[in-house]
Amino acid sequence: MTYLLALDQGTSSCRSIVFDADGRQLAMAQRELRQIYPQPGWVEHDADEIWKSQLATAREAIAQAGLSAAQIHALGITNQRETTVLWERQTGRPLHHAIVWQDRRGEPCCAALREQGLTPLVQQKTGLVIDAYFSATKLKWLLDNLPGARERARRGELAFGTIDSWLVWQLSGGQLHATDVSNASRTMLFNVQRNEWDEELLALLDIPRELLPSVHPSAHDYGRSRPELLGAPVAIGGIAGDQQAALFGQACFKAGMAKNTYGTGCFMLMHTGERFQQSANGLITTSAAQVDGRPAFALEGSVFIGGAVVQWLRDGLHAIKASGEVQALAESVPDAGGVMFVPAFTGLGAPYWQGEARGAIVGLTRGSTVAHIARAALESIAFQSAALLQAMSRDAVAAGAAPVSELRVDGGACVNNLLMQFQADLLGIPVLRPRVTETTALGAAYLAGLSSGVYASTDELAAHWQAERVFHPTLPRDRAAELMAGWERAVRQTCAS
Ligand code: G3P
Repeated sequence: MTYLLALDQGTSSCRSIVFDADGRQLAMAQRELRQIYPQPGWVEHDADEIWKSQLATAREAIAQAGLSAAQIHALGITNQRETTVLWERQTGRPLHHAIVWQDRRGEPCCAALREQGLTPLVQQKTGLVIDAYFSATKLKWLLDNLPGARERARRGELAFGTIDSWLVWQLSGGQLHATDVSNASRTMLFNVQRNEWDEELLALLDIPRELLPSVHPSAHDYGRSRPELLGAPVAIGGIAGDQQAALFGQACFKAGMAKNTYGTGCFMLMHTGERFQQSANGLITTSAAQVDGRPAFALEGSVFIGGAVVQWLRDGLHAIKASGEVQALAESVPDAGGVMFVPAFTGLGAPYWQGEARGAIVGLTRGSTVAHIARAALESIAFQSAALLQAMSRDAVAAGAAPVSELRVDGGACVNNLLMQFQADLLGIPVLRPRVTETTALGAAYLAGLSSGVYASTDELAAHWQAERVFHPTLPRDRAAELMAGWERAVRQTCAS
C-alpha cells in the first residue's frame, strides 16, 4: 500500500493527515495555534510555534497510522495563505512574529498605492485588488519597522516566505527556500501572467529581490525532509495554498468547476482553465494549483464572516451554548420570518468590498424570536455565498463560458443540512457534498502523489471523487430571486450606516 502525508497548516490549528493512495484518511493529528492580538486590527502567530506544532502533528499522525516515516511515499504542504514570515538565513530565527492574513496594518500603505492610481496595474499583473490582506504590505511593514532589516535583506542575510516556505525551510534544515505559484499569487508581488516575481512591484514597495523564495509548480519534487525530523527522509512533493488545495482535492480541474469552503469565513473558487481572466464583478484572479508547469487560474471570492456568525450567536448574543445547537434552533421556525442578518462585523469582502460596513439585523417585528435571528444568521452564510456565485457566473458568461452548473462544498459548516439545502435553493443548482470533506489536506496529498508517480494524471484523481449527498434546489426561482433582492437591500443598509 502507498501512503501520503498532508501537512495542513491553518489559521487556527496545525493538522497532519495520513491518506492511502485511494484518498482514504487513515490518521489525523491536530494542535490548536495561539492567536496573538497586539492591538486592534493586528493578528500575529509565533512562527516557531507553527513549526514545532506542525512537526509534532506529523509525527503523531504517522504513529497513529501505525506507520514509520520510511513508509510515507511523499508529503504535501497546504497552508493559510498570505501570512508573512521574515527570518535569518544563518540561524533560521524569525525576526518577528508572523503577520497573519487577517492583519490590517498594511492598510495605510494600500491606501497610498490606491491614491497613486495603481489599482489597474496591480490587478493586471497579480489578479488582485490592492488590499492589506495580501503579503506585500505586511512584508513592507516589517522592512520599514525592524531596524536594519532592509539593509540586511539587501545583503542576502534574510528570507521572506509564506507559511509553506517557512515549513519547507525548516523541514529541509535551511537547504530549501521555495514556494509554489498558488502561494506566490497571494503576495501581490508575483506576476501571475508571466509566472515570476514582478520587478516593478518589488521596486514600488522597496522590497529587495534577495528575500524571495524560488517559485515552482504546485506538484513538484521540492526535495527531502531532514532524516532526523520524522525518522527518515520524506519527499516533499507538493505545495498549495489551502483554498487552491481544496479546489484540487474537490477535483475541480476544469474551467467552470467551483467549490465553496464553509469555515470561519467562506472561500469560493471557480477554475477558469489556462486563461488569466479578470473579474468585472468584484472577484480576484488567483493561480490555481499547477501541475506540469501548465498555467491554471481561478476566480476567487472571500466572505469574511461565515461560520463565525454562529460563534457570535454563542459568545456575543448567548443564544446558544454550543455551536452544534444552531441547526435545531433555526429549524424550530419554518423560515426567518422576514429577518435578514448581515454579519458585516469586519466589513464586507467580495463581491462588495465595503471595509467600513458594519453588521445589521433588519426586518424585526414583535413576532421575531431568537430562533428567527439564528435562522437568519445561518441563511446569511448562504446569501453571501450566493452573491459570490452570481458574480462568478456573470464573469463566466462574459468570457463566453456557461454559468456555474453545480457547487462542491467542504469545510466545517457543510455538515449542516439546513444550510446546504438553503444554499441549493438560493443558487438554483445542485450542491454536492463529497464523501471526503478533508479536501484541503487531500488536495495537498494528491499533489505530492502526482509529482512522485503515485497518480498518472488528474483524470485518475477525478475518478476518486464521490458525492456523499446532493442537495437539489426545491424553491421556485422567483421566490429565490425575491429573497436575494431582500438580501441586497439589507446589504445596502449596512453600507449606508
Ligand atoms: O486566505 C486565507 C486562507 O487561506 C485562510 O484559510 O482555513 O486557515 O482560515 P484558513
